[in-house]
Amino acid sequence: MKAVIAERYGSPDVLQIKNVEKPTPKSNELLIRISATSITAASTFMREGKPYFGRLFLGLTKPKVKTPGTDLSGIVEAVGTEVTNFKPGDQVMAETGLNCGAYAEYICIPSDELVVLQPENVRPEEATGILDGACTALAFFTDKVDIKKGQKVLINGASGSIGTAAIQLAKHFGAEVTGVCSTKNKALVKDLGADNVLDYTKNELRDSSEKFDVIFDTVGKLSYAKTKKNLSKNGTFLTPVLSFSALLNMMFVSPFTQKKLKFAATGMRKQEPRMRDLIQVRDMLASEELTTIIDRVYPLDQIQEAHSYVDSERKRGNVILSMNAK
Ligand SMILES: NC(=O)c1ccc[n+]([C@@H]2O[C@H](COP(=O)([O-])OP(=O)(O)OC[C@H]3O[C@@H](n4cnc5c(N)ncnc54)[C@H](OP(=O)(O)O)[C@@H]3O)[C@@H](O)[C@H]2O)c1
Repeated sequence: MKAVIAERYGSPDVLQIKNVEKPTPKSNELLIRISATSITAASTFMREGKPYFGRLFLGLTKPKVKTPGTDLSGIVEAVGTEVTNFKPGDQVMAETGLNCGAYAEYICIPSDELVVLQPENVRPEEATGILDGACTALAFFTDKVDIKKGQKVLINGASGSIGTAAIQLAKHFGAEVTGVCSTKNKALVKDLGADNVLDYTKNELRDSSEKFDVIFDTVGKLSYAKTKKNLSKNGTFLTPVLSFSALLNMMFVSPFTQKKLKFAATGMRKQEPRMRDLIQVRDMLASEELTTIIDRVYPLDQIQEAHSYVDSERKRGNVILSMNAK
């Protein structure tokens, strides 16, 4: 089978398509023929092995797992002798996390890991595309803040993968949502349900005195020090990007404020909350409460171009690698 192999960390040209042996499922595993996988912002950081502390998990000098890719949609081709919850022909969606392996034609996954049946009304590109952004945003909204009806939530990076999902989830929880994006993405952010839109290219947040219960800086581009003026008295600033300044602000909390900054590596959580989020995201996709925003779909042999595009930090929603695209 064809698979993307990365023998070292670096720019997109470390991603090489090779012919490798098709895997055989162990007794507890599913063999999945992958239809589509996602090129996430996190997967481009994993390719580079930066920030360096990530190498403690990914491999110190070179990637421990040679085939990247953390999310997928596919069809079960065979099951191991002990598997009872899936059968050949099932359409499934799955997160492989740090085990990676999704940039390939086939993968084997234990049947009790983060794999669920995919709704019939959902295309493979939509199924894989929703996973990273929505599962991350949902984890922040449920584990780091108890988001409630009527709260004012600001989402920075509202046109990205986490951002487009976060708008829809925050609206689902009954929040009043303000999205921050550039001029070209204002219509998209509004269409996704944002009540208000601020344009970061016109410094509309910097110049605003409005207060928010939650500020979710999905792209790690805001300064907590400069933005906390926009937090309500007990407000929480959420970030999925661990910068040095964010770390300092979490370690040295002033006794004179109830405002907080919180980070989470959502993919490093235990299986149980991750499965809970995966099921909720899958069900909301099925009922069309969540829509996957797809920017570009690339064929497998354009993996380097796909990564270069995601590296640009300009993607709108999600970028997909489709095994069927030409
Ligand atoms: N901690 C975790 O568990 C976790 C999980 C998943 C991802 N992450 C991390 O979260 C970050 C975001 O991921 P993502 O996939 O959502 O990103 P993304 O989709 O790649 O973000 C791209 C979007 O960000 C917008 N953007 C760029 N600069 C901006 C700025 N200064 N202000 C506002 N918007 C800006 C771009 O819009 P314009 O083109 O209009 O600028 C583009 O639409 C990444 O660093 C990723 O590694 C962390």
